[in-house]
Amino acid sequence: MMEPVIIQGGMGAGVSNWRLAQAVSRLGQLGVVSGTALDQILARRLQDGDSGGHMRRGLDAFPDRAMAERVWQEYFVPGGKSARTRYRAAPPLTKDNPRELVELCIVANFVEVYLARQGHSNAVGINFLEKIQAAHLSCIYGAMLAGVGYVVMGAGIPLKIPGVLDCYVEHQPAEYTIHVHGAREGDDSTMRFDPREYMGVDLAPLRRPKFLPIVSSNTLAATMLKKANGRVDGLVIETRTAGGHNAPPRGKLLLSELGEPVYGERDAIDIAKLRELGVPFWLAGGYGHPEKLREALAQGAAGVQVGTAFEFAWESGLCEELKVALLAKVVAGKASVFTDPLCSPTGFPFKVAELEGTASDAETSAARPRICDLGFLREPYRMETGEVGYRCAAEPVSLYLAKGGREQDTVGRKCVCNGLLANIGLAQVRNGNRTEPALITAGDDLVTLGRFLRDGRLDYGARDVIDQLLTGCDGVRASSEMACFA
Ligand SMILES: Cc1cc2nc3c(=O)[nH]c(=O)nc-3n(C[C@H](O)[C@H](O)[C@H](O)COP(=O)(O)O)c2cc1C
Repeated sequence: MMEPVIIQGGMGAGVSNWRLAQAVSRLGQLGVVSGTALDQILARRLQDGDSGGHMRRGLDAFPDRAMAERVWQEYFVPGGKSARTRYRAAPPLTKDNPRELVELCIVANFVEVYLARQGHSNAVGINFLEKIQAAHLSCIYGAMLAGVGYVVMGAGIPLKIPGVLDCYVEHQPAEYTIHVHGAREGDDSTMRFDPREYMGVDLAPLRRPKFLPIVSSNTLAATMLKKANGRVDGLVIETRTAGGHNAPPRGKLLLSELGEPVYGERDAIDIAKLRELGVPFWLAGGYGHPEKLREALAQGAAGVQVGTAFEFAWESGLCEELKVALLAKVVAGKASVFTDPLCSPTGFPFKVAELEGTASDAETSAARPRICDLGFLREPYRMETGEVGYRCAAEPVSLYLAKGGREQDTVGRKCVCNGLLANIGLAQVRNGNRTEPALITAGDDLVTLGRFLRDGRLDYGARDVIDQLLTGCDGVRASSEMACFA
């Protein structure tokens, strides 16, 4: 069975949207939509009036018309809300999500994958962050309903996801145990989802997508293959130069003079050992170059996963003005990326592209009052009552402390959730006059993107990325043009 040579990495939230994934899959490589925060993203796109009618198109294809209609009725604002009006947010995800939120998750994930699959017959993938556990059951089901070909999952150790995929083939109920800080024996931290309790129509069996966990060490790669509760179809091996969240260095955290995590020999990947695992693997983190692709193939990889180069393609969801501003910095030789060890509430290092007026600069960040109203990165914890509570190290400090959080964990934290939605033009409005600042992530590769720019222009497309990557790989190009991978 043929595998893609280039995986366009999932980029949350909404950066690898349906449009980018569709463009990449059309070109014979694997386009991957980000599944992160799609519930809020769909709700906001509808409140913006669904320009182009794309969401409506996706909703019209949803098998349970009544459910799709409920979502439409709840959020659609004809002509779009005014720029000074705040978005009405869907409630944050929890272990026991209300029915309306579960429906929104199913429908939103369906729509994104459905749209990405239009106009070609190649596979499309979806990316989730394992850390956002409360989303998994309903979101994966929605993506499978739309025929997703690959589920790619990073930011955690998703040992129990293959079993969920297997359950959904026949629309069987699935379970997922979430990690609750301080949980005691006997506590119930298992989420359950029964598709038949939601879908008001009979459905044919679904195709089981391939499952590709993203890992950053040989140990985790081996663990995934040994301990997962079902088939793992391949691995994405991501190194620390990649955009988004990075795995922390092994051992004690040391910081460079600039304040970035220092990685050492123990963090290096042994490719020969990966090959011995006997599953296809893709290398990620600075692999968006033709010579790096050739190097990966020569080392036995099935290909590469590339994020940053696609992030700035015109098809991606990143706001046009942010793309142009950063590409102008690249051209001027002034672009830089900081690996921030503190910024993300997850506690993982997070790559931040430095751009004035975004939360990367200290002044903009300090001017933002701490507010946590999206809550994707909240940590479930055991309250004294035994129930599950939720806290985020970027929420108001007093609230976090009242929930048993430690003060030192709040230092330097930023609201990644609101920042990421601002990046894609869906910034929340506060008090009618202030919008949430953007917080852009990009890999170290950002500084090299000038290679895609021609004739003084500050834009390029997914095709430019793929064409350049496949330079000197003629055999690969010919076979990928007939791609399907499914
Ligand atoms: C803007 C951006 C957002 C990202 N978001 C995610 C994400 O939500 N989930 C994930 O698994 N990886 C995420 N990544 C990592 C990419 O999927 C990919 O592995 C990585 O970008 C590859 O390295 P490169 O940036 O050097 O090409 C993100 C990367 C970027 C640039």
